[in-house]
Amino acid sequence: MEKISLHIHYHRFTSVEALNENEQRLCRAAVSATETSYSPYSEFRVGAALQLEDGQIVSGSNQENIAYPSGLCAERTALFAVGTQFPGTAITVMAVTARTDRFVIRQPVTSCGACLQVMAEFEKRQKQPIAVLFYCIGGEVIRVNSVRDLLPFAFNEERLKA
Ligand code: THU
Repeated sequence: MEKISLHIHYHRFTSVEALNENEQRLCRAAVSATETSYSPYSEFRVGAALQLEDGQIVSGSNQENIAYPSGLCAERTALFAVGTQFPGTAITVMAVTARTDRFVIRQPVTSCGACLQVMAEFEKRQKQPIAVLFYCIGGEVIRVNSVRDLLPFAFNEERLKA
């Protein structure tokens, strides 16, 4: 038996102003994306903004459904939009944020496991890291340089080979 430790690295910023101008713009795009959230059931508005290698920004928001599992998170809405509208274009950095009228969100909202899995496969396919910003409106920001830091044991296609 071996006990193995993994270390992940992330950066924590006290506010969005501490980020570079490009990342601040991406965080603002994530906030704007919360406007298109369709979330009558959770009333939790999530926005994601992805920057492509050519500088373009693609946004997404959570889209819920009365058949609850049929809805989709903001991150995957945006990622699949890139997959369909800009195939083959690498994502360099993405920002995720959330807001709700029900309470004050005091910490950056981090992505669910299903979204991390999809982020991991986008990163693997494009063979270059995707930096991720989890942005708390009016509060802290968490930044990782790669999805690998969020999901080191992501399921990948090698698992399906003998
Ligand atoms: N949600 C996201 O959009 N992204 C996540 O990573 C986690 C959760 C959405 C799904 C649902 O519409 C709402 O937040 C409450 O779970």
